[in-house]
Amino acid sequence: MSLSDKRILLIISGGIAAYKSLDLIRRLKERGAGVRVIMTKAAQHFVTPLSAGAIAGERAYTDLFDATTEFDIGHIRLARETDLVVIAPATADLMAKMAGGHADDLASTVLLATDKPILIAPAMNPQMWGHRATKRNLAQLLADGVATVGPNAGEMAEADEAGIGRMAEPIEIAAAIESLLAGRNAAPKALAGQHILVTSGPTHEAIDPVRYIANRSSGKQGHAIARAAAAAGATVTLVSGPVKLPDPPGIKVIHVESARAMLAAVEAGLPADAAIFAAAVADWRVAEMAAQKTKKTAAGPPTLAFVENPDILATVAKRKAQRPGLVIGFAAETERVIENARAKLVKKGCDWIVANDVSRETGVMGGDRNTVHLVTAQGVEAWPSQSKEEVARALVARIAETLKAPAALLR
Ligand SMILES: Cc1cc2nc3c(=O)[nH]c(=O)nc-3n(C[C@H](O)[C@H](O)[C@H](O)COP(=O)(O)O)c2cc1C
Repeated sequence: MSLSDKRILLIISGGIAAYKSLDLIRRLKERGAGVRVIMTKAAQHFVTPLSAGAIAGERAYTDLFDATTEFDIGHIRLARETDLVVIAPATADLMAKMAGGHADDLASTVLLATDKPILIAPAMNPQMWGHRATKRNLAQLLADGVATVGPNAGEMAEADEAGIGRMAEPIEIAAAIESLLAGRNAAPKALAGQHILVTSGPTHEAIDPVRYIANRSSGKQGHAIARAAAAAGATVTLVSGPVKLPDPPGIKVIHVESARAMLAAVEAGLPADAAIFAAAVADWRVAEMAAQKTKKTAAGPPTLAFVENPDILATVAKRKAQRPGLVIGFAAETERVIENARAKLVKKGCDWIVANDVSRETGVMGGDRNTVHLVTAQGVEAWPSQSKEEVARALVARIAETLKAPAALLR
């Protein structure tokens, strides 16, 4: 997609990833966008306003009390004369200021004064990203309608540091900008006005404070469905188990670990027009999590007793109140895929099952492709082998059709 005629206000804050923002400016200009740059004081320790301005083709703005621009209240103009405000990198500090509504420099003042959508690309040390204060600020920003792209998992600039906190690559940020702006300009979309709830990823069931039982789900399929539903205009709530994927931009993401936490988040997320349960939820958990790390003893290995986890799909499908209009489960099977999926459809009381063969040799778990069967009360459709993105788009198109004509859902 082209960004011609689009104006982007890029705010660069003071993180090590600021050097990548120069590449982002170049990529946005290549796509035809007009780019204006604001830099915080800290950002200027990492890249110079001269470089940013030279690539943007316009001076970079740095000072709130700038006599040459403020004679006509320049900060308000900067805030308004744009289609989108992008912060890349977004430091922990700037996120905190935004969440608190501060306005003590040019960047934060413009962020408070703008009436335009805001996209942030957070970048920071994994400890900073995982800190309770940053999580609180992020939750506030999402609730305020701020869209996010990244951060990604990987190596940090600091030696021996890795985890979630790397800024999304400029190409990913450019794609997020395109999809946000495309979403705003397009004709009414297939899922406009609908709330779609999606679960994704594995669950972790604790054995003791350091050990847990997990599975090989990567969350790629569930996250792709959430992105496709958002691209189709839906308001999306994504309840995600522990995954190494960035939160999709413009989507409310609730992070959970266990099956019980996932059910609670799903129920709190209702009502929804459709719910898609793509997460690989543990069937069992350890009956009693040990309060301390289990030690080796002369008595030999411990025996773990299991209890059944709540069945999220069946619980929601059988609700009397607030049952979503369309309840879709995923069946990950390693044998007799269709037979088991048909049985699951009846047993769980859901409307559709998306069945996939997750035997090791198929490479579905963690891979980028998927071959699914759509099992409904009317029959079984074999879909061709396609990318998880394509499966997501096809499923979302089918959901949109069905929500428009509920009679198609002959249960
Ligand atoms: C070498 C160095 C690298 C830094 N990298 C980051 C970073 O990646 N993310 C971050 O949130 N803060 C980082 N900081 C801290 C910020 O620069 C600091 O919080 C600053 O006050 C942010 O100001 P700003 O939000 O106005 O740009 C770094 C600091 C230094 C000295």
